[in-house]
Amino acid sequence: MYQTAAWYLSIILMTLITVIFITVVLKTNRRREYESIQKKWYRFRTIYFIALLVVFGTATYFTLQDLPFERPVYGQAENPVVVDVEAIQFGWNMSQTEFKVGEPIEFDITSTDVNHGFGIYDKDMNLLAQTQAMPEYTNTVYYTFTEPGTYQILCMEYCGLSHHLMIGEIVVTN
Ligand code: CUA
Repeated sequence: MYQTAAWYLSIILMTLITVIFITVVLKTNRRREYESIQKKWYRFRTIYFIALLVVFGTATYFTLQDLPFERPVYGQAENPVVVDVEAIQFGWNMSQTEFKVGEPIEFDITSTDVNHGFGIYDKDMNLLAQTQAMPEYTNTVYYTFTEPGTYQILCMEYCGLSHHLMIGEIVVTN
């Protein structure tokens, strides 16, 4: 829906720009008294500039009040099971792959070589949680499975010829 709206909006804008462009091209030959126009535009420009200053100044003042922005931590829960995850070309080393429904999990994810992407998918290939797996850095993802089943860990960043083979498995039971 948004895409259709964006599509129509860009068509309208492009048409508008084309019309303005053609108008300018057609009018360039006509001579006009310059002085009075210049004065008029100068006044308009001054007012416009002040208006912009006021609008953006006000917006900046109010939006920057909240700095530094809070970083929400999704899915964090008390006493999670901590799982160490290591991405390697081309696989996943996980300290634990079997979990219980409702058990909060903290995945601490890093990489031994290049950048990978850690993504947890359910059986319908819906992405449930994800983060980057980066060398010499640990990213943390919290997740609590609400349904039993087999879940897949897929690499979400192209990391070499066998990127598509980086598949891990998680089993969640009741
Ligand atoms: Cu690892 Cu793509």
